Amino acid sequence: MNKVITLDNPPVNALSFKYSEKILKEIEDAENDPSVTSVTVTGANGFFSAGVDVNDFQKDWDPSGTTVRDIIETIERSDKVFVAAIDGVALGGALELALACDRRVATPRSKLGLPEIKLGLIPGAGGTQRLPRLIPPQEALQMMLKGETVSAERALELGLIDEVIPDVMVSVSNHPEHVILSSASSVRESKGEGPLKKRRVSEMRVQLPATAQAFALPYIIAEAHKSVPPEENGGLAAHKLIDAVQAAFELPFPRGLAREYRLFDELVASAPSLALRHLFFAERELSKIPGLPPAEPLEIKTAGVVGGGTMGTGIAITFANAGIPVTIVEPNADQIGKSRQTIFGMFMHQVKRGRLTQEEAWKRGQSIAFSEDYAALADCDLVIEAVFENMAVKKEVFGKLDPLVKPGAILASNTSTLDIDEMAAITKRPEQFLGLHFFAPANIMKLLEIVRGKATSAQTLATAFKLAKKLRKVAVLSANAFGFIGNRMFFEYTREAVALAEEGVPPARIDVAMKKFGMAMGPFATFDLSGIDVFWHVAQGRPDLELARTPILDRLYEQERLGQKTGKGFYKYAEGSREAIRDKEIEQLFAELAKKAGVKQNPDVSDEEIASRIIGALIMSGEEILRDGVALRPGDIDIVWIYGYGFPPYRGGPMFYSQEALAHA
Ligand code: 3HC
Ligand code: NAI
Repeated sequence: MNKVITLDNPPVNALSFKYSEKILKEIEDAENDPSVTSVTVTGANGFFSAGVDVNDFQKDWDPSGTTVRDIIETIERSDKVFVAAIDGVALGGALELALACDRRVATPRSKLGLPEIKLGLIPGAGGTQRLPRLIPPQEALQMMLKGETVSAERALELGLIDEVIPDVMVSVSNHPEHVILSSASSVRESKGEGPLKKRRVSEMRVQLPATAQAFALPYIIAEAHKSVPPEENGGLAAHKLIDAVQAAFELPFPRGLAREYRLFDELVASAPSLALRHLFFAERELSKIPGLPPAEPLEIKTAGVVGGGTMGTGIAITFANAGIPVTIVEPNADQIGKSRQTIFGMFMHQVKRGRLTQEEAWKRGQSIAFSEDYAALADCDLVIEAVFENMAVKKEVFGKLDPLVKPGAILASNTSTLDIDEMAAITKRPEQFLGLHFFAPANIMKLLEIVRGKATSAQTLATAFKLAKKLRKVAVLSANAFGFIGNRMFFEYTREAVALAEEGVPPARIDVAMKKFGMAMGPFATFDLSGIDVFWHVAQGRPDLELARTPILDRLYEQERLGQKTGKGFYKYAEGSREAIRDKEIEQLFAELAKKAGVKQNPDVSDEEIASRIIGALIMSGEEILRDGVALRPGDIDIVWIYGYGFPPYRGGPMFYSQEALAHA
């Protein structure tokens, strides 16, 4: 008889210590029951399982308790045939459980992966030893290094599963007497093979390609180490992963497994993993808003965008990518032409890269319409304004939109710095008004700040969070305050970078130090990318801002050194190139300004001092934002800086970083 064991621990069937005990017991019962000849492991709630419960690592990870490792070791010892029947997501420890079974089948919608690296870990329940034995070893290494999932179809190609089945339950109930492999077993029976036999992955040999005989192995391993960041810059888990896979290549299974366990247990306590796990939970907290009454989100079926400039165009592409038809209203015919070209170019690029089929690209392109007339937006469920950053212009836009757009629809502004309530006040629907602050380029950057006005309703907020998920954005709630969360902190961060430059540290050196700290880009390179005019305009409106007090912005603006777009900013750029070239003129300009202002010169600071001053300014600003109630939680700020400004994830975000630094001081 076949026994079905169902992983059923809502919401995602995570294998916590406690739940693992229950499953272990069921497996032991099956093992001890002589009438059971085979076991099918499957999952409930639309998932196979998301793997080990990440909460268990937060407490003291104690591998001596019952873990998925014990379940796997019991399966490994058993003489009965185990089949994993996967329907939905099978991740981490759960896929490792499936790897310990004798067969694996999955429905077409299933996704399989070992994402531990994203938590600063490696697979720690045999995954690093079994996967390279089951599928081509270099594919296995890449799959674990990237931590990405594969579809059932790809899993079949790789040999990770034996069969794609249409429906787990049908297969289970139709074949209570033997293993659920409906068609596979009938194939075998027709071939006269009889019932399925044991096939332990641990007993398979790693199949290195013919070109990679033993002598080529050190080369493969060395190349892999070279392909990932250094240990101290976010690469710790990647290097350990390569070590574990090397063990799979070189050692007998039990010794390789022991090495994997040891490496995994070390990583659980490592700083990068703590930081990445903090971000995992912070991301899942984002939509939990204390005190907000529950509300049913509205469905956004069609959207409108006012202004087809840089942001409006990017926002429209984002909607098209999510399958939501969108109309752009733009009064300037030339700009419509430019926007169309940007959209066309972007989709063509995706086709060239093999990320989209021609047909899909065409379909998405067709779902973006243009009009010069606001009336085209009358039936939209949501309209986002992305016109010039000027309150009078924005008010005029909302004054026209409000009476035209159907009642109940949501109006939003993409403003970077202006007051949401002032805009909402000129409409008759302040409850359905909010800020949706996308980051440039809007179709690429994952961050979305949702700005809550004083009248924004619970339903409007719930709709925005649901929409963000559909748009594949990470949404963070901000109060309606100057610069919201990200830009307000960014102004302090760049202000400190400018202060260092005024003290005689070359901007190019400051950028190098910040990249060494782990930032995706240095502050001066960011200035040049965004455009110095953008900051200058902000400074005009906010003379109280520290950054506005520095004369450097005025001087650069006067000289039309606006950054990449004019070929000169804090760096020089060759015609048509984005490569930043150090510019002595800027260093001289800073020296002149410093002399005039009597700023003491102190150019001999270390890279660490540079980073600690700039990050220190960032953290102070984050604390102020928390005190002012602009951000709900420190973790929200961390997410803004990871997804919006390229803060290194392995440091957990500025607020987590400061807390850790304090704890170890
Ligand atoms: N442990 C604990 N909780 C988990 C979890 C996990 N592995 N995976 C998801 N959850 C929780 C979330 O925190 C969330 O809880 P909440 O409702 O209280 O906020 C809930 O499940 C739903 O998660 P999402 O909001 O993310 O739902 P989605 O449907 O968007 O995504 C998912 C589901 C694809 C499973 C996604 O949550 C995910 O990728 N989870 C992480 C999986 C993972 O990293 N697994 C590896 C664990 S480490 C491991 O197995 C070690 C082993 O090698 C020894
Ligand atoms: P942009 O100058 O590229 O585009 C603005 C567009 O709005 C122009 O095409 C203009 O013709 C159009 N427009 C002006 N008045 C209009 C009206 N009355 N009706 C319809 N269209 C009108 O500006 P960009 O950069 O796209 O910025 C738009 C908004 O997004 C601003 O509020 C800006 O602060 C904000 N933002 C900009 C970011 C950036 O990095 N560029 C990032 C995040 C937000």
